[in-house]
Amino acid sequence: MSDDLLRQIKLQGAVPAHVAVIMDGNGRWAQRRNLPRTAGHQAGMASVRRLVESCLEAGVTTVTVFAFSQENWQRPPEEIDALMALLQEYVSTQSAELTEQGVRVRMLGDLTPLSPPARQAVEFVERATAGGTKLALNICISYGSRAEITRAARRLAEDVAAGRITSDEVTEQAIADRLYTAPWGDPDLLIRTSGEFRISNFLLWQLAYAELYVTPTLWPDFGRREFFEAVLDYQRRDRRFGRVTTA
Ligand code: IPE
Ligand code: IPE
Ligand code: MG
Repeated sequence: MSDDLLRQIKLQGAVPAHVAVIMDGNGRWAQRRNLPRTAGHQAGMASVRRLVESCLEAGVTTVTVFAFSQENWQRPPEEIDALMALLQEYVSTQSAELTEQGVRVRMLGDLTPLSPPARQAVEFVERATAGGTKLALNICISYGSRAEITRAARRLAEDVAAGRITSDEVTEQAIADRLYTAPWGDPDLLIRTSGEFRISNFLLWQLAYAELYVTPTLWPDFGRREFFEAVLDYQRRDRRFGRVTTA
């Protein structure tokens, strides 16, 4: 029973405050069922809902999910259209529930290539959930980590050129402050589904000391139990941050 796992999590103590998730494997999930890839994306949306509930139950306070990468723009237009339609469906069907749950939604990434209705959906959900304090749900869309870091570097260059800061003030903190993720701490745990052992240009800076958890489960099959298993695995890790262990 996954309730047992939740009980174990609570007994263990420290829950990861910030969990990042690479939600991968929708296409393969559909393929195995002889369904179009878009059916996998649709099923994946239900997993996002379960993830939010599980985070609230476990006491995770920030969850950052990778929904659409900058590189995903290279996919067939039909698939991109379906994903953008799903984004709008997610917002229209989930906004009320998210607000009620105390979830604050932010969309991180370069939103300029999004269609006007998709951008309106983004603005709507961010505004509707602005009062949420229990869980921050960051959805990375049209997101690439190198682009994010490049943008931060450009901003710093502009600040130095304009005399707002000196080059000595280009610190790690100054860079972090200019990333999309500035309001939140770095992820403690990164989960990647579908068994791929790679980062795929996700949060390169922010994951410096995250604990990595890769599961073969495909994203549409990832539920409450799988999430709690990942958290329990995290709780067994010895995080040293380069120091000598004290245990
Ligand atoms: C993840 O599933 C969702 C997105 C990247 C949009 P995929 O669509 O990558 O599914 P696979 O990896 O091909 O199975
Ligand atoms: C990473 O998955 C991006 C998202 C989950 C949104 P991909 O399926 O795009 O990554 P690769 O191509 O396997 O590296
Ligand atoms: Mg994939």
